[in-house]
Amino acid sequence: MINDDNPLTALDDERTDRSFDAIADHFEKKVYGGLKGDIRLAVLRRDIFGYVEQLSHLLKRPLHILDVGAGLAQIATELAIQGHTVVINDISANMIDKAKANAEQTGKNLDITWYVCPYQALEAKLGTDKPTTDSTDKFDVILCHALLEWLADPRAVMDFFDKQLATDGVLSLCFYNPASFDYRNLIMGNFNLLDTLLDKADYQADNNKSLTPNYPVAKQEVESWLQQHEYQIVLESGLRVFHDYAPLKRGGHTDPDAVIRMELRYSQQEPYKWLGRYLHIMATRKT
Ligand SMILES: C[S@@+](CC[C@H](N)C(=O)[O-])C[C@H]1O[C@@H](n2cnc3c(N)ncnc32)[C@H](O)[C@@H]1O
Repeated sequence: MINDDNPLTALDDERTDRSFDAIADHFEKKVYGGLKGDIRLAVLRRDIFGYVEQLSHLLKRPLHILDVGAGLAQIATELAIQGHTVVINDISANMIDKAKANAEQTGKNLDITWYVCPYQALEAKLGTDKPTTDSTDKFDVILCHALLEWLADPRAVMDFFDKQLATDGVLSLCFYNPASFDYRNLIMGNFNLLDTLLDKADYQADNNKSLTPNYPVAKQEVESWLQQHEYQIVLESGLRVFHDYAPLKRGGHTDPDAVIRMELRYSQQEPYKWLGRYLHIMATRKT
């Protein structure tokens, strides 16, 4: 519903979740076709796989894992290869087709269920909206990577997590860090124009292929949601904490393995981690 008297409400009502159906090839090439994607996956693997192994050991069984807005679903597929039961969701059929093709290429018989729908429709499909005290339907791990910043109402996803995450489960939330946009523009000197990007509070990329998110959420805001929903943070990392800030690629920058080694090292160190282009938070329920 659009309220014409209130421009802000009207603007809010125009927001929609962003399906990547039309840019699936572009996304695959731009994000995962090079070192940027390799850094992202290296940090996420290091953060997630160790925790998942410990939890599975503690619970003495394979885990029930959900990936929402999964895109190419590399991490979820690797978790399925490790023997876990995985549910993969994306609003975009093209993205899911690519993820399925990658999973099939492993040649392994993986326990993966695929859902093409908005995550908001998953609850009904999973059948967990029926009142139940049984937690076995719930997920031990929920992955939500680079989805928040493409949602019209990002905060609402917290209610979904509350319903779908098992009591002793863990949430892996990775999101675009708006502070990195400011910092990169400062480094690049993008403040000599009359109307600089940095002075626009509501900057939106003007090209519909752009992978700069339109609705970024600041770290402080995400942390406040987690607190309100009674989560406790067990790990925070930065992804691409220096790689994107180097205008001149020399020395170690010419060696991709060395870049990944340093990214992994500084991804968990203060203050560097807070400059990551993305932040990764793992959080459990307070009990
Ligand atoms: C930036 S991509 C991230 C993909 C993947 N998680 C990753 O980290 O590489 C965002 C994905 O969210 C999907 N998406 C957007 N809105 C969605 C929604 N409401 N429910 C499920 N997926 C959604 C898009 O289609 C896209 O594939």
